[in-house]
Order: sequence, then structure tokens, then C-alpha cells
Amino acid sequence: MKYRRAQFRDVESIHRIVNHYAEQGLMLARSRNAIYETLRDFVLAEQDGEVVGVGALHLVWDELAEIRAMAIAPEYVGQGVGMAIVEQLAKDARELGVKTLFTLTYQQGFFAKAGFHEVSKERLSQKVWKDCINCSKFPNCDEIAMIRPLE
Ligand SMILES: CC(C)(COP(=O)(O)OP(=O)(O)OC[C@H]1O[C@@H](n2cnc3c(N)ncnc32)[C@H](O)[C@@H]1OP(=O)(O)O)[C@@H](O)C(=O)NCCC(=O)NCCS
Repeated sequence: MKYRRAQFRDVESIHRIVNHYAEQGLMLARSRNAIYETLRDFVLAEQDGEVVGVGALHLVWDELAEIRAMAIAPEYVGQGVGMAIVEQLAKDARELGVKTLFTLTYQQGFFAKAGFHEVSKERLSQKVWKDCINCSKFPNCDEIAMIRPLE
């Protein structure tokens, strides 16, 4: 498995994997426009030239960043690909000086394994909620807020 940054040629693969799960209500849908604008956030897993997993690190506020858009192709789930992407994103975050990672998720079990713990949403900076206005669930968010301090 190869892990690398995303390029323009990956936009269709990111769009397909993320929206496959978004259609099942497991994560937020993302337009091509949103993917282009945040392409530098993405780390990908590639197997035999095919993108099989994606995840993104999005800078939000001082020393604060979000892990989001985590999606592993169905046939590669449960093989450590998601964990490897989170660790790659955490490494990028540390190099930037991020002190706290957060995520909003339905996959607490996975993120707990990745060193995150649940917090009340009120504990997160107001900046976190900037994108929520575009969410179909707004203002009734049922995702779980989790954070991971970075040493
Ligand atoms: C959630 C997801 C990203 C996890 O990626 P993955 O590659 O399947 O996970 P990994 O194989 O790296 O799992 C790492 C560990 O977390 C555990 N884990 C993974 N998903 C879990 C879950 N939903 N609940 C509990 N534990 C979970 C694994 O058992 C593994 O534990 P181990 O180290 O003891 O073996 C992936 O399953 C996925 O794409 N799901 C659908 C989309 C989605 O819900 N994305 C999250 C949006 S926030």
C-alpha cells in the first residue's frame, strides 16, 4: 500500500469513495468544487495504481485542525488503511504545529483506536461550526465530537 498526497487526477476517485458512503448517510457528501478547493488537505492510499482510501486534514483555527472525509473503499475496510491515513495526517499536523485534532463522526470506535476521546460539542471552538451551515442536518447535528491532543 502506498500513501501519498492528492493531485488533480485523483478528484474523481475521492468524489466516488466519499459519496459512496455519503449516500448511506455515513458522512457528508462533497461536491467536486469542495474537493478541488481542499485538495491539498487530502492523503490517499493507493494499491496497484488505484485509490482505495482517502482522508483529509483541514486547518480550522490556531493550533486546531479537523480530520475529515475519511473513507476507505469497501473491499479494503478493516485492513489498517484508515489508521495509516490518520497517522499520516497527524504527522502533517504536528509538522504544522497543530496541538489538537478533532473530528465529528459516527465512527467513535475507529477514532478511539486512533487516540481520540469524546468531548461535548460546546468544548470546541466556534470556528469549528463554520461549515455546518451547508450541512443538510443543520442545526440538528447528531455526530459525535472527539479530540486527540498532539504531543
Ligand atoms: C471508518 C473507516 C474510515 C475506518 O477505516 P479502516 O481502514 O476500515 O479501519 P482500520 O482497519 O484502520 O481500523 C483500525 C482499528 O479500528 C477498528 N475499527 C475500525 N472501524 C471501527 C468501528 N466502526 N468501530 C469500532 N472499531 C473500528 C479496527 O477494528 C481496528 O482495530 P485493531 O487495530 O484493534 O485491529 C472505514 O471503515 C470507512 O471508510 N467507513 C465508511 C465511511 C465512514 O464512516 N467514514 C468516517 C467518516 S467520519
